[in-house]
Amino acid sequence: MVSNVNFWYQMNGIYLFAAIAMAVTSCAGEAAARVSVLPTAGVWPDSEGRHVNAHGGNVIYADGAYYWYGEQRPERGFTVDAGVSCYKSDDLLNWKEIGTVMSVSHTPGDDIESGCIIERPKVVYNPKTGKYVMWFHLELKGKGYEAARAAVAVADSPEGPFRFVRSGRVNPGILPMNLSEEDASAPFDYDQEWWTPSWYKDIEKGMFTVRDRDGGQMSRDMTIFVDDDGKAYHIYSSEDNLTLNIAELDDSYTGHTGKYIRIFPAGHNEAPAMFRHGGKYWMIASGCTGWDPNEARLMTADSIMGDWKMLSNPCVGENADKTFGGQSNYVFRLPGEDDRFIAMFDVWNPESLANSRYIWLPVEFREDGTPFIPYRAEFDGK
Ligand code: GAL
Repeated sequence: MVSNVNFWYQMNGIYLFAAIAMAVTSCAGEAAARVSVLPTAGVWPDSEGRHVNAHGGNVIYADGAYYWYGEQRPERGFTVDAGVSCYKSDDLLNWKEIGTVMSVSHTPGDDIESGCIIERPKVVYNPKTGKYVMWFHLELKGKGYEAARAAVAVADSPEGPFRFVRSGRVNPGILPMNLSEEDASAPFDYDQEWWTPSWYKDIEKGMFTVRDRDGGQMSRDMTIFVDDDGKAYHIYSSEDNLTLNIAELDDSYTGHTGKYIRIFPAGHNEAPAMFRHGGKYWMIASGCTGWDPNEARLMTADSIMGDWKMLSNPCVGENADKTFGGQSNYVFRLPGEDDRFIAMFDVWNPESLANSRYIWLPVEFREDGTPFIPYRAEFDGK
C-alpha cells in the first residue's frame, strides 16, 4: 500500500505545506490509498503557489478528478471583471488552476457585463443531457443588489467553457405550492413598519411573494441540490432575503418547472447548503449579517417539498456560535461514500475578497442521525 500523507503547519498566521510521501508495504498488498489533510482558514496555495480564488462555490467529482468552482474575486472591490474560476485536483488538497470557465461579457448592457456581481456559483452534472450546468446569483452592473437574479450557464466538459444561457427572477406568475390563492389575496399593508407582529403575519401570508409574483421571485444566496432520483432543486434566499425558496428544476436542469415552496418566512436564512443522509434532507444556512460570521442554522425535512423543521446550530466547539469565523457554502459527498461529507465554509475578507479563506470540515452524525460539525485544525479528506 502506498500512502501520500500531506501535512499543513500553521506558522505566523500562514500555513506552510510539506508533502511527505511514504511507501508502506502491507502484507495484504492492498490497493494504493491516498490520505490528505485539509487546511482550515489559512492561505491555500494552488500548484503555482497562489491562494485559491474560488469563493462561495462548490466541488464536484467528474471524469476521475475533483473540480472546485467559485467566485473569482478581485483584490479590491466587490464587482467581477473575470468570471467564475475552476481548479482541478486528485486529492482535494493540491489544486491546479484551470482558469476562468465562465467569463463575463464585455458588451455593454449584457446581463453578465464586466462590473456585475457573480456569487455562489454551483456546478452539477446532468446525466440525461451529458452537460455540466452552472447556476449562480447575478447582480447587474451598477445596480447594487437590486436585480436579485438567478443565472444559468452550460458546458460540455467540467473544464468549460460555460456558455451563459439566461438570467432572471424565478417562476414569474406562479405561486408557491404552500401558499394558497386565499392567503395571497389578503389585503396586505405594504407601508407598515418591518418586524412588527402584523408585518410578520403579512410576510407569513406571502406579502412579498405576492408583491414579486408577476416579475418572479427574488433570488440571491443560492445552491443547487441533486437528489438521488436525479431531480435537481434550486434553493435560494428570496423576498429580500427573508424567506428561503426550494424550486424544482426541469429535466435539463436549466429551467424551473414552476413547482416551489417557501420555507421559514421572515427567518432571514441565507448561504444554504443542502445534503441528504439517513433518508432525510438536511440544510445548513447562516443568518443575514453580510460578510460577518454569525451562528449557523440546521434544518431538516423528510421530503424536500414537505415540512421543514428548524434545529439548533450544527457547529460544535470553540467559536461555534460564529461558525468558526466562516459562512456555510456547500456540503459535498465524497464519491462512492454514503456517510462521508465535507462542509465548505467561506471566511470572508471584505477588505480583499480574493484573500477570503476557506474552512472545510467533515460532517459527523449523532446516534439519532442528526449531523454536527466539530472544528478540526486538520483532517483526512479521504
Ligand atoms: C452575504 C452573502 C454573500 C454576499 C454578501 C454581500 O450575506 O452570504 O454571498 O452576498 O452578503 O454583502
